[in-house]
Amino acid sequence: MHQAVITGTGVYTPEHVITNAELVEAFNAYADLFNAENAEAIAAGEIEAKPHSSVEFILKASGIEQRYVMDKEGVLDPTRMYPRLRQRSDDEPGIMAEIALDACNKALAQAGRKGEDVDLVICAASNMERAYPAVAIEIQKLLGAGGFAFDMNVACSSATFGIQAAADMIRTGSVRRALVVNPEITSGHLEWRDRDCHFIFGDVATATLIERREDAPHGFLIRSTRCATEFSNNIRNNNGFLRRTRPDGVADRRDMQFMQEGRKVFKEVMPMVAQHILGHLADAEVKPTDLHRLWLHQANKTMNDFVGKKVLGRDPEPGEQPNILQDYANTSSAGSIIAFSKYSDDFKPGEIGLICSFGAGYSVGSVVLEKI
Ligand code: COA
Repeated sequence: MHQAVITGTGVYTPEHVITNAELVEAFNAYADLFNAENAEAIAAGEIEAKPHSSVEFILKASGIEQRYVMDKEGVLDPTRMYPRLRQRSDDEPGIMAEIALDACNKALAQAGRKGEDVDLVICAASNMERAYPAVAIEIQKLLGAGGFAFDMNVACSSATFGIQAAADMIRTGSVRRALVVNPEITSGHLEWRDRDCHFIFGDVATATLIERREDAPHGFLIRSTRCATEFSNNIRNNNGFLRRTRPDGVADRRDMQFMQEGRKVFKEVMPMVAQHILGHLADAEVKPTDLHRLWLHQANKTMNDFVGKKVLGRDPEPGEQPNILQDYANTSSAGSIIAFSKYSDDFKPGEIGLICSFGAGYSVGSVVLEKI
């Protein structure tokens, strides 16, 4: 069996930023328009008036201060409330492949490798922009990589599940060098017209390069990985290829975007994640006190505080559990990889850390890393 080592990571960050203040201003303008247009029905008690959103609520409930997006103008247009992206011809790179390529090239540069050195590309993300051909195969072509490529979707856990799949293939010898890439254009599936969730997501792409240990003088040894799933409807999106076959299927329906029961998710996923990490660490013979850092999924600050405390048995010290969600919001599968990419340079050989992501499915994935 070979050993698998992470030798590079890359982050693509879109150029447009939306602050909470800008977001709330646009939402409130949209709500006012909606209420004016539906004044009679609201007065008759047939529909409910849309209440305003608030900057204070967003920061307190989530810890999020801003988010990056691929298009700001469409999202903040109160008569539209979703991104406006250019239609591309089939002969030019798709937008997911384009941002994925940027993240992949950064990960390759960090490791001193080229696209042609790669023989597996996994595009692991919450949404794919088309049914086929796989976005991963397009990225493979743009990189000049060999071998094979495929897409996978485990929502917010896609990156850790992708890392496990790639690491297993490296261990068994079926591939030599893998890129797991997470282009997350979450602005496309967020319902910006729903104040309960309009602040949650942001766009980004991350990439992780994984190599055989014999090829990797430096990096993070993947000591162990663990994935788990348990079906739940509490985070759901009903969009899919059968949409047009159903009555009202192509209508502007709320369930064709991200939906969640936020409180239930909180209550059910938190214990699942804490138990998952503690069980994984025990089986990997790593004591929580051996952990130098936790790179957690970046959905909510309170959630991360809870998980950190349960795993470490005390409040995490500054730097033990870095958050990036205040700047990026929830970037779905990419969040824990952004945290790892930005907060791992200071590790010394022998120090151990853990990446963990969790979300829809439910799903939870963890990766125990040791600096070599
Ligand atoms: N502005 C002002 N008030 C708002 C608001 C907004 N944007 N959104 C909701 N509220 C109100 C609610 O209507 C509710 O009012 P009520 O008490 O009168 O009914 C109140 O604020 C509390 O709402 P609630 O949804 O219970 O807040 P919360 O503390 O649970 O925080 C989340 C909401 C979404 C931030 C939180 O539940 C969460 O993070 N859940 C897990 C999310 C997650 O990780 N999902 C995975 C995605 S992959």
